[in-house]
Amino acid sequence: MEAFLIGTNWKMNKTFEESEKYLKALTELTASYKSAKFFVIPPYTHLKASADQLNKTPIKLGAQNMHWLDSGPYTGEISPAWLCDAGVSIAELGHSERRQYYNENDYDLNKKVCAAQRHGLVALLCIGENAQEKQFGVTKEILCRQLKIALHNVQAENGSIWIAYEPVWAIGENGTPATPEYIEKIHQQIYECLEELFCEDAKNIPILYGGSVNPDNCSCLAQLKHVDGLFIGRSAWDLKQFEKILKNLQSVGKL
Ligand code: PGA
Repeated sequence: MEAFLIGTNWKMNKTFEESEKYLKALTELTASYKSAKFFVIPPYTHLKASADQLNKTPIKLGAQNMHWLDSGPYTGEISPAWLCDAGVSIAELGHSERRQYYNENDYDLNKKVCAAQRHGLVALLCIGENAQEKQFGVTKEILCRQLKIALHNVQAENGSIWIAYEPVWAIGENGTPATPEYIEKIHQQIYECLEELFCEDAKNIPILYGGSVNPDNCSCLAQLKHVDGLFIGRSAWDLKQFEKILKNLQSVGKL
């Protein structure tokens, strides 16, 4: 697996002005960590300006969702073609908030993953079980189902698929961080499911962990087997916290 991946989705946060300041500081902060691959996922309205600002940097830009069609009568939707025009290279698909509040389902996600591939966008597919599914002991089945449907008939050779494992119960203000033991066990299961789907090519699919990653747990999580990157919310929005995360990752040789 190549460079360790570190990225953040801003969700519905940050004004234009905050975005500009953040990206400027992020560019400076990450400049010395050349072995990692950084990415940032602002809201749609900030994408073009963000792309212009990040143009000469190695930081990759993502969008938080997209439609699977290029154009049509779909008021309020965003075309993958426009994302490419705007300078986006990653499409985040299936974040649990989209599944929970906007009825995103695995079959539509499959169309979106295929559309991302058609457009040369990396599909960053988010998967995760909720608290009830965990309690009933069906996590493995839930994750395999999410993967098998969303990645149906998809090719995985060229690094165009990334997976983010984000247990729903670990995300956000009220989230309980998952334990390292749990994460390692689940990442192994995800890897095995990917192997079942893609054989050898499973090795080309990085698996990121997300959900209450913070400066205290990041170095331990980053060292777990089959954790190829971290997908960070709140702790990356505050660059002081993010700087601590980078220092801690560097101290364990991950950056
Ligand atoms: P969090 O968000 O790090 O704030 O828990 C993670 C996510 O939703 O990707």
